[in-house]
Amino acid sequence: MIKIIKTVAQMREIIKEWRREGQTIGLVPTMGYLHEGHASLIDASKRDNGRTVVSDFVNPIQFGPTEDLESYPRDMDRDSALAEEHGADVIFAPQAEEMYRPGFSSFVDMTVLTQELCGLSRPTHFRGVCTVVSKLFNIVTPDRAYFGKKDAQQLAVIKHMVSDLNMDIEIIGCPIVRESDGLAKSSRNTYLNGEERQAALALSKAVGLGSDMVSKGETSCKKIIEAMKELIEAEPLARIDYVKIVDEADMQQIETIDRPALCAMAVYIGKTRLIDNFFTSDVKGAQK
Ligand code: PAJ
Repeated sequence: MIKIIKTVAQMREIIKEWRREGQTIGLVPTMGYLHEGHASLIDASKRDNGRTVVSDFVNPIQFGPTEDLESYPRDMDRDSALAEEHGADVIFAPQAEEMYRPGFSSFVDMTVLTQELCGLSRPTHFRGVCTVVSKLFNIVTPDRAYFGKKDAQQLAVIKHMVSDLNMDIEIIGCPIVRESDGLAKSSRNTYLNGEERQAALALSKAVGLGSDMVSKGETSCKKIIEAMKELIEAEPLARIDYVKIVDEADMQQIETIDRPALCAMAVYIGKTRLIDNFFTSDVKGAQK
């Protein structure tokens, strides 16, 4: 059975031991309820490192007051089975009280990349993410850490944080893993009922449409966004939070695709907020 580590002290002991053995260490930060998207990050870490830590922690400080902290799905038995199956060495699963002791008051805040996209509708989200990821980096001291392109802004924010704060950790971005019908895998997909699950395909269909336009040479962001919005709005259960195209480097909106760009969206399907995206640099035939 894979070891589940609950305290920072125990985690540090294991890391020390691995370092004595000369092992390299990969970290896969997650909030649990693992699926094949998370598993692909574990696989990537296994390929590159001697040891792999999966952190499994629903981080309270990255949820807004009206968000789904209480209902966020949790299943440690399932998580440990999947992590073990993919060859992870330990799961780090502390309680909130272990990570946030009474009097906790230090945060990692980023001023630039977090002002756009999800940062607008989730104003304290990235501060919570940067803070917990910094703590995980300090506890696990990984050589490499693995993040999905599914959360494209998060990946950009973490890369920027590591550079700003001189953290000696390589950040690896991994492709989005999808269901066979195209829906991006997400722990939040469990919130969807049958009808909503079908409606949620509007996101991946819009990604397909947008990347198709880009591959055929369309460079007008307005035209691409309008076409994608029209497709999503045709789905009665869908309500758009945003569909935007931003410069991949600084997350600022652009008008023309004349540099590597990210086309990202957040869409409510019923009460569930889902995200999806594509990077123009991953689209064949796109302007590079
Ligand atoms: P969570 O949503 O559990 O995601 C953990 C990691 O899995 C993230 O890097 C995310 O991008 C990646 N991931 C999720 N779905 C994916 C998919 N379909 N394909 C590829 N990768 C996917 O993101 C978080 O947790 C948290 O914000 C965290 C970084 C752990 C900080 O609390």
